[in-house]
Amino acid sequence: MEQKVMSQMNLPSLGIAVRTLFTGYLLVMGIGILMSLAQILLTHGMADGKIGVSVDDVVYSYHGNRNSSKLEVKLNGSMKDKANDESRARLVKWAREGAPLEHWKKEIQPIFAENCVQCHANIPGLPSFTEYEATAEVAKTDMGASVDSLTRVSHIHLFGIAFIFIFVGYIFSLAVGFNEKIKAVIIAIPFGFLIIDISSWWITSVFPGFAWFTIIGGFGYMFAFAIMWFTSMYQMWILPRNGKTYDINEWTDKRD
Ligand code: HEC
Repeated sequence: MEQKVMSQMNLPSLGIAVRTLFTGYLLVMGIGILMSLAQILLTHGMADGKIGVSVDDVVYSYHGNRNSSKLEVKLNGSMKDKANDESRARLVKWAREGAPLEHWKKEIQPIFAENCVQCHANIPGLPSFTEYEATAEVAKTDMGASVDSLTRVSHIHLFGIAFIFIFVGYIFSLAVGFNEKIKAVIIAIPFGFLIIDISSWWITSVFPGFAWFTIIGGFGYMFAFAIMWFTSMYQMWILPRNGKTYDINEWTDKRD
């Protein structure tokens, strides 16, 4: 049995105004997704001190590295070339001792002053190493993300990403030539993975073994985004050129 799909409009037959609106939105969202990838690489990607996102990065970001401190991890990672071995060893020792204040002024501050503060006092967003308090914060045992920061980042993500995908999904829902059920699955994927992604941050902050789910969740909605983005763009701009018309009666959803 063939059933007609009752759809008000479809992508290939959109008028130029709506098509422009959808395209503008998709272009901006596409750039946004690329920016968010870059942001992940720059922040979480460097959490274990090595370039590229790995499971360790996720563990360090959310669970922390509980036998170490951020200072120690960085001094063995991306900040390794910023000071000689002797100075680095001294800073690591200080961090492991619990960043005692009595060594700060005479012994430790000068090492930071000589090697680090040209950036870590002047570049916004980096912890400043001119004051004891801020430095001790980086030197203490790394417990990962706090409940505070997790709640903040979670709610921003849930609202923000759902908002992106309601429109991306709506535009894709007007695509022709897809089985309606497959379409529905593709539309559901990002919402499902969003929940997996956010839950995995919380679970990883307690059980580091769940870091994989954060990576799987991230890939899940990138993947669904890519399918919807390219399909929508193709059907709005390339498909109409073949001269066919795509009225609502022509495309049918084949079901048994
Ligand atoms: C040339 C500039 C520069 C110098 C010099 C420098 N850093 Fe950094 N530091 C950065 C940048 C950029 C980042 C952020 C990227 C990253 O995490 O690798 C960073 C990040 C860090 C972080 C992680 C901060 C956080 O909250 O995630 C620590 C810890 C750190 N640096 C320690 C040091 C120490 C210790 C020194 C001196 C021995 C030093 N840095 C010297 C530029 C610098």
